[in-house]
Amino acid sequence: MRYMSENLTTRKRDDDPPSPTGDTFLSVPPNREAPGLARAFVKRRMRELGMPELTGDAALVASEPVTNAAREQADHFPTEPIVVRLILTSQGRPRFEVTDCAPGSPRRRNVSSEAETGRGLALVSAVARRWDFARRPGGVKTVWAEL
Ligand SMILES: Nc1ncnc2c1ncn2[C@@H]1O[C@H](COP(=O)(O)OP(=O)(O)OP(=O)(O)O)[C@@H](O)[C@H]1O
Ligand SMILES: [Mg+2]
Repeated sequence: MRYMSENLTTRKRDDDPPSPTGDTFLSVPPNREAPGLARAFVKRRMRELGMPELTGDAALVASEPVTNAAREQADHFPTEPIVVRLILTSQGRPRFEVTDCAPGSPRRRNVSSEAETGRGLALVSAVARRWDFARRPGGVKTVWAEL
């Protein structure tokens, strides 16, 4: 698996005309490059979708889960990609899905005011209309968030 921009793919049915609002996804490696690649992908897609005002929020709700996924997966499955997907809901809202195969679950932590980390999912929760995660077959899970 190469982690270049050609992995950015628009999925569509054969009879669909090309659409700038198509379902797109990006595969990134579980390392420190992942959040930056995810942010760049999301920013570009939000501009293409005509929602530049949501770009900052979009970058945050996608990159925090990607940062988590990369950190949690790196030691266990270093060659498996993390997949970032951006779709529009039936209400036309952006929905971000981050799929990884790391063990464990995303859990908001109660952190003290002095703690330097532990607020990523709290930020996602503050910015997204809703978010959650779902287990999928094969030890895979997806963290999703909608703006
Ligand atoms: N994809 C994931 N797989 C397994 N565990 C996860 C995953 N995402 C998050 N977690 C767990 O949820 C916890 C809370 O995540 P959160 O992003 O809120 O804080 P953090 O990553 O520890 O700190 P920060 O985001 O501030 O760097 C993590 O510490 C980790 O234990
Ligand atoms: Mg985090």
